[in-house]
Amino acid sequence: MKFKNTIKENDVTDEKLYKSRRDFLKSSASFGTGLMLSSTLTNSFEIDKYEKVDKFRGSDDELTSFKSASTYNNFYEFATSKDAPASLADSLKPEPWNIEVSGLANKTGVFNLEDLIPKQKIEERIYRFRCVEAWSMVIPWLGFKLADFLKQFEPQNNAKYVYFETLYDPEQFPGQHRRVIPWPYREGLRMDEAMNELAFIAIGMYGKKLPNQNGAPLRLVVPWKYGFKNIKSIVKIKFIDTEPLNSWQQIAANEYGFYANVNPEVSHPRWSQATERRIGGEFSLFNPRIDTKIFNGYGDYVADLYKGMNLTKNY
Ligand code: MTE
Repeated sequence: MKFKNTIKENDVTDEKLYKSRRDFLKSSASFGTGLMLSSTLTNSFEIDKYEKVDKFRGSDDELTSFKSASTYNNFYEFATSKDAPASLADSLKPEPWNIEVSGLANKTGVFNLEDLIPKQKIEERIYRFRCVEAWSMVIPWLGFKLADFLKQFEPQNNAKYVYFETLYDPEQFPGQHRRVIPWPYREGLRMDEAMNELAFIAIGMYGKKLPNQNGAPLRLVVPWKYGFKNIKSIVKIKFIDTEPLNSWQQIAANEYGFYANVNPEVSHPRWSQATERRIGGEFSLFNPRIDTKIFNGYGDYVADLYKGMNLTKNY
């Protein structure tokens, strides 16, 4: 793996962050080594160093502003509108945070997130993010490989899938008073998908810890799949041998599948997936649409996972 040593000025479009990073870089002795020290992450699970991995970013991938990424959200545990989660998200308390690990693994039990994170190598990865609703963003996530995270629990050979659940607590998630989703929100991946080098757990974005509305303290990021696979605020991980149902399949199995790989040729029953609108800027509702790519443009990394499968049937 190659790490890029240079930091481009347009890497971060949010001006305040850009400035604070500049100030920081001026004072950082490690600039140029490929390691960046971050003073902005002051979680109790301290992240003081991370490596910038630029190889997943496309040449046209201009970063979405932090403002757009943190105020245009899908997080039904707070509300079903896009702008509401940011204003409601204070009720979520992401520290301390426990994760229950169960099923087909040697190391199961309840773990404090603080104890799991120090073992991980923290990276910044810039990924395209494509929602099933046909909008997209480009986000610099901070986190670690899902594979490294899961290997800590020593999954057994008969674990074919990994299943995740979001916290269920209507006190912290007021939207859970309404049964718009059969709570808790749930998702799953085939084990080989989870072990793919792109599959990522984010604990931060734009050099800061993850805002609550983006799924604090940890959420899944699988950039070749539609956004709904990227389950937020995870409290349960289970290693299982049969394909689990995700929340959107529970609600409308004819519209949403288990795989949810980005695919311009497989339309949603109610709209085309051939193009998308990049969110960003004040007038992004009027941004010209761009072509959607198979696997969101990450086919080189993930197409092999689906060899021989009919992607129209296994949507
Ligand atoms: N996870 C939970 N627990 N609840 C949700 O409502 N929405 C999903 C996904 N993860 C959702 C969730 C959908 S539809 C999308 S597009 C992304 O989160 C949105 O992530 P963002 O708000 O960080 O852009």
